[in-house]
Amino acid sequence: MRPLIRSACRLRARVRAMATLPAAAAFSPSSSAAARPPRLTLALFFLPSAPAPAALGARALRTSASAAAAAAVDVGGVKIAREDVVREEDPTNNVPDTIYSKIGLQLHRRDNHPLGILKNTIYDYFDKNFSGQFNKFDDLCPLVSVKQNFDDVLVPADHISRSYNDTYYVDAQTVLRCHTSAHQAELLRDGHTHFLVTGDVYRRDSIDSTHYPVFHQMEGFRVFSPDDWSGSGMDGTAYAAADLKKTLEGLARHLFGAVEMRWVDTYFPFTNPSFELEIYFQDDWLEVLGCGVTEQEILKSNGRTDHVAWAFGLGLERLAMVLFDIPDIRLFWSNDQRFTSQFSEGKLGVKFKPFSKFPPCYKDMSFWINEEFTENNLCEVVRGIAGDLVEEVKLIDNFTNKKGLTSHCYRIAYRSMERSLTDEEINDMQVDRCS
Ligand code: PHE
Repeated sequence: MRPLIRSACRLRARVRAMATLPAAAAFSPSSSAAARPPRLTLALFFLPSAPAPAALGARALRTSASAAAAAAVDVGGVKIAREDVVREEDPTNNVPDTIYSKIGLQLHRRDNHPLGILKNTIYDYFDKNFSGQFNKFDDLCPLVSVKQNFDDVLVPADHISRSYNDTYYVDAQTVLRCHTSAHQAELLRDGHTHFLVTGDVYRRDSIDSTHYPVFHQMEGFRVFSPDDWSGSGMDGTAYAAADLKKTLEGLARHLFGAVEMRWVDTYFPFTNPSFELEIYFQDDWLEVLGCGVTEQEILKSNGRTDHVAWAFGLGLERLAMVLFDIPDIRLFWSNDQRFTSQFSEGKLGVKFKPFSKFPPCYKDMSFWINEEFTENNLCEVVRGIAGDLVEEVKLIDNFTNKKGLTSHCYRIAYRSMERSLTDEEINDMQVDRCS
C-alpha cells in the first residue's frame, strides 16, 4: 500500500538500489513518465535462463480471470461492465481482470469493516468540529478522465505517475483514479467548499504485506474566503496552513490519542506549501497523511478566484493496519468469517487476533530481462496467476554477464490466510498457468 507517496518512494528506492529498476513514484518531485504503454511482455520467467521476451505474462493474466464472467457492477449509479474496463485487444488498456474484480466492492462503505469503521470515525471528528459543514462523498465512480486524475490537479505532463507502469489505463483518456484528488476540481466547480471524498484508488506497484494495487483514500478539502482571514493578521496562505495543521493534529489525536507529532515538508504538484504529518506510535514515526495549501491555479480554474484552500489525503489501509493491528493488507479483502467477525460498527482500534499463521512457501525464479522489464509488470503477472496467495515478491539477485545481458532472481513468498499450502500445489500452479 502506498497511501502516501513517500512510503512508496522509500520502498522503490530500496528496489532501485538493488536492481537499477526504473524510478517510479506517484507524486515525487523528480520523475518523468515513460511515453509508451508497455503491455506485459515478460520473458518466460518461470523458466530460468530464457532470454527471449514473450507475451506469456499477459496471457497468463487474462486466463486466470475468475471474475471475468461477473455482471456489471453499480458504483454510485454508474454501471461498469467488464468490457468497459478490460480490453484485451486495446494496446492502450492495461487493466487485468484481477483489478476489474475489485471495482464496486467499496470496502470503505461497510460499517463493520475496519476501513468503514475508520472512515466513520473520521466523519465523526469533522461532524463534531465543523458542525456538519463537510459534505461527504463515498461512491464517486473510480473511472475518471486523465484530465481529472492528472491535469486538473497540475500533475506535470512528464510526471512518472502518468506512466503505464504506474497507473491503470482503460484507454488513452481514461484511468482508474490513482488518488481521490481526482475529484477536487469537479467538486469545486459544483460549488462545494468543505468536502471529504472517500474511495478506492488504483496503482500498479510491487508486492509485499503493505502494498496492494487497490487501496482506499480519504481526501479532505476546505475553501476560505478573504473574510475568513482578513482579521487574522496573516495572509491567506499562512491562515490556511495554520488551520490545516490545527485540524489535522486534532484528527490525529481523535484517532490515536495523545501522541507525539511532527510536520515534514514535502512536495505535491497540487499544494504549496506541502506537508506530511507523522506521529510517534509504537516506537516508530508513522506517516499519517499528506496535505498542503491548494495551488491558486486550481482554485482560479474552478470558480474560486481570490480564495484559498487546504487539502489533505490519507490512506485508510495504512492507518487501519496500525489501529487494528492488521498484519497483512490482503486481509482487508478477506471474506473469511474469522476475519470479518472481529470488527463491528463504531469500534475503532479493536485489536485483530490472528487466526492463523500458516507457513509460507518460497519459490525463487531467475530470468533474463530486456529493457521493457519492470517490477510492476512482473508483480501484475504474479498476481494474475496466484491472486491473493502471493505475499511478497522480492529481488534477491541481479547480475549482468559479459555480453551485457542482465538476469534477475526474485523470491516469491506464497502464503494463504486460510490454510497450509503445499510445495506441489504451488509448483503445479506455476507450471500450469504459464504453459
Ligand atoms: N493525492 C495525494 C496522494 O495520493 C495526497 C494528497 C492529497 C496530498 C491532498 C496533498 C493534498 O498521495
